[in-house]
Amino acid sequence: MKSEHPSKPGILSLIAVLGPSGELGVRNGLLWHISEDLKHFKSLTMGHTVIMGRRTFESLGKQLPGRTNIVLSRSGKKLEEILEDVKDQPEVFIIGGAQVYRQAIHLADRLYITHVQAPLPSGGADVFFPPIDPRQWQEVSRQDFVRGAAFPYPFSFVTYERRKTQQQPPV
Ligand SMILES: NC(=O)c1ccc[n+]([C@@H]2O[C@H](COP(=O)([O-])OP(=O)(O)OC[C@H]3O[C@@H](n4cnc5c(N)ncnc54)[C@H](OP(=O)(O)O)[C@@H]3O)[C@@H](O)[C@H]2O)c1
Repeated sequence: MKSEHPSKPGILSLIAVLGPSGELGVRNGLLWHISEDLKHFKSLTMGHTVIMGRRTFESLGKQLPGRTNIVLSRSGKKLEEILEDVKDQPEVFIIGGAQVYRQAIHLADRLYITHVQAPLPSGGADVFFPPIDPRQWQEVSRQDFVRGAAFPYPFSFVTYERRKTQQQPPV
């Protein structure tokens, strides 16, 4: 799938883990640690370029090995300039956080979302993923888990692709 936008990679993908209402994180950290999800994230992103916001980079505390890491900061290049720089790559991943997902979702071709059906840790969430509008996004694959090896709640790996033509709302 080659993007029609001249200044971005072949496929621009967002990858995220979300709670039942799109919760992403709290106090600049993640809400859950699911080992199956970390493996899934690694296998999808390995060898590719990953783009992240400065706060997400700080929460990771290091570059992700085996991937080209690009950190967005207002003191550096704009998102559009970075996408221009990586336009010859077949697939590039935006790995968060909330501010960056919000700005990039309208440019994205694909979403890799881990939907987690678990209670939120105490304190709840303070950052959220933008709404995934089913008129714009079509689910193309799904893998459901009733629980992880060490995670006691259900979660699903879901891939969405941007619809070629936007669906009309039901009348
Ligand atoms: N659940 C998940 O899958 C997932 C994934 C990633 C992150 N998270 C969570 O999300 C939270 C962090 O998200 P966040 O929204 O607070 O921060 P963020 O999006 O990671 O980073 C925000 C920073 O990115 C820079 N930035 C944003 N837009 C930019 C633009 N257009 N051009 C240049 N730079 C730009 C700015 O850096 P400067 O201030 O330096 O200018 C801004 O302060 C944490 O809780 C983290 O754990 C969750």
